[in-house]
Amino acid sequence: MKLLVTGGAGFIGSAVVRQALADGHEVVNLDALTYAACLENLALVAGHPGYAFVKADIRDQAVLETVFAEHAPDAVMHLAAESHVDRSIDGPGAFIETNVLGTYALLQAARGYWQDKGRPESFRFHHISTDEVFGSLGPEGKFTETTPYDPRSPYSASKASSDHLVRAWHETYGLPVLLTNCSNNYGPYHFPEKLIPVVILNALAGQPIPVYGAGENVRDWLYVEDHAAALLLVMQKGRVGRSYNIGGENEARNIDLVRMICALLDEMKPADRPYSSLISFVADRPGHDLRYAIDPTRIREELGWRPSVTLEEGLRRTVRWYLDNEAWWRPLLERDGVGRRLGA
Ligand SMILES: NC(=O)c1ccc[n+]([C@@H]2O[C@H](COP(=O)([O-])OP(=O)(O)OC[C@H]3O[C@@H](n4cnc5c(N)ncnc54)[C@H](O)[C@@H]3O)[C@@H](O)[C@H]2O)c1
Repeated sequence: MKLLVTGGAGFIGSAVVRQALADGHEVVNLDALTYAACLENLALVAGHPGYAFVKADIRDQAVLETVFAEHAPDAVMHLAAESHVDRSIDGPGAFIETNVLGTYALLQAARGYWQDKGRPESFRFHHISTDEVFGSLGPEGKFTETTPYDPRSPYSASKASSDHLVRAWHETYGLPVLLTNCSNNYGPYHFPEKLIPVVILNALAGQPIPVYGAGENVRDWLYVEDHAAALLLVMQKGRVGRSYNIGGENEARNIDLVRMICALLDEMKPADRPYSSLISFVADRPGHDLRYAIDPTRIREELGWRPSVTLEEGLRRTVRWYLDNEAWWRPLLERDGVGRRLGA
């Protein structure tokens, strides 16, 4: 298939692009190259004959229309977004513009293209969203596809809005959409403002490892390459109009996750004292959701997908990757806002 992937220069989008090309798809990567983008994530595939890159902003509907006309994709996989909760607290405007208005412009451009082509049933608009739209869980229970939406941060509210738009374009105009809501991703090429790379890189620099609050927040960690495989499966086999929750079956409290990473670093790159001695508890994020957990029954039973790695194994691969790829992450530490406490 020919896929139009938005946000393909980001963390998850680039994993999707690499895997889609390896699976034999053609890919048009549309990305505005914001502070979070790294075309280096695609260095291994940049010369692939099935790969094309278009620098464009999803808020620009006229440009999107020309991209659809020129490239004639069979499906859209929409990952472009502002994605960092802490940045959404400091500057919600960019999140409304890209995540809400950008998704609206993309839906309109996709609908026009699909209608002009005679509304092919095989077309897919796959919207990639987050479990954060469901709000916060107590110690028990998990999010299913029918859990009511209850977003609590500017980021999650903007993603929830975009999910509603995508469903509305299906119900109202018949656009063949799919939605996925996934848990926290981690793995190679993770931008160094997110928790796991921050822990690894601060530890390696001998800097305090910041843990918000008491580190009690629980996340369900999903290895990014497992996620990319799940997305490509849903895009090809998912039922139109349906949403699928994608989780890693790997719940961990932040403090336990940080200690696991420190223990892996103690083993792989021993220092003169345990890395866990650098852990430093800092003021919590305002409105910090306590727990997210995904019930993955639907994707497992309908599509036969399960994560392939445990958290222990995924973290081991991730720590190894950061140790081996300093040339990738070192320049990113200079980008705006990286290394500073945001959203406090
Ligand atoms: N990272 C996670 O753990 C996670 C979890 C759940 C859902 N998601 C969702 O998955 C998607 C991808 O997340 P990610 O972590 O790879 O994000 P990311 O921040 O690493 O990458 C986002 C990409 O989108 C591009 N982009 C931003 N605004 C744009 C615009 N206006 N026009 C075109 N391109 C633009 C950026 O340049 C960047 O390459 C997002 O929709 C996010 O909400 C992420």
